[in-house]
Amino acid sequence: MTLKKIVKKLCDFPKGVLAADEGIGTIKKRFDMIDVENTQENRTEYRKLLFSTPNLEDYISGVITYSETFDQILDDNSRLIDLLLEKNILVGIKLDSGLSDTPDNQKLCNPTENLDEKIKYYVENGASFAKWRALFIISDNTPTKENIEKNAEILADYALKCTQNGLVPIVEPEILLKGNFDSNKIKEVSSFVLKIVFEKLRDCGVDMEEIILKPSFVRQGLDIQVDPQVTAKDTIQNFKSVLPENLGGIAFISGGIKDSEAIETLKLLNKYKDDFNFTVLSSYSFGRALQTRCLQSWKGSVLNLNSAQKKLIEVLSFFK
Ligand code: 13P
Repeated sequence: MTLKKIVKKLCDFPKGVLAADEGIGTIKKRFDMIDVENTQENRTEYRKLLFSTPNLEDYISGVITYSETFDQILDDNSRLIDLLLEKNILVGIKLDSGLSDTPDNQKLCNPTENLDEKIKYYVENGASFAKWRALFIISDNTPTKENIEKNAEILADYALKCTQNGLVPIVEPEILLKGNFDSNKIKEVSSFVLKIVFEKLRDCGVDMEEIILKPSFVRQGLDIQVDPQVTAKDTIQNFKSVLPENLGGIAFISGGIKDSEAIETLKLLNKYKDDFNFTVLSSYSFGRALQTRCLQSWKGSVLNLNSAQKKLIEVLSFFK
């Protein structure tokens, strides 16, 4: 499949991408909430539950995995990711190596060693796309231009290496929605971050049609209740002025927004796109918004497998 076809498949709303690529530390936070021990066995059981959900392929076109999951071999010697590939669901891989704190309370992407070799390994073993996350924190003084530029350069370098070696890069400049900032602030920060990210992507010569942007919604801080109609319109208006028209696609994060609100916002955004003449394919790559109900139903017990899978499908069916 060409990179452009992979992009189209992944962003074909109401189908979208399940982000199941939590690193060991992040999945621990999710397991702590349901009192499940963070062992490799439990992580494998949980991801097996997700991937073997009946009819998952009717809703999900791709799943982002973590390296441990990608390489996981099951008791019958099959690979865990084969559960997805057999259903024609594309497999993605998280390629970033997390974030470091800067002295001024911002975040900077850690380098990934031997990135070219890793990309080649994942392509040879069935991956179609990748993800790299940067994180920007809103405060009176942040994010700074310098910090955005440094992270954007790393994102652009990763994106170029992926497209040159046969992976669609998901470029994720997340803006943390935690807090009580107002809509002017998020509009200003979102435009500033995206402008710089796309400048750096262009400087590197990345083909915009071969990449997927994974942004946060343009929404006020999570402490404030917001009508999804407002978020949907603000997001389109902001993006229209800053994103290249030939961008391959968008796959939003849920960013800690409640599942029902995140799904409603994306549905409305797709509904309003024509009114604003916004043509970029727009779907989702949600983690928490898709998994929270499923995790709470599972609680680490094999006895709850069916009910947990039903919860996942219940949430996914809200998109239709
Ligand atoms: P959410 O849980 O915010 O949807 O995040 C998904 C993700 O992949 C973040 O990198």
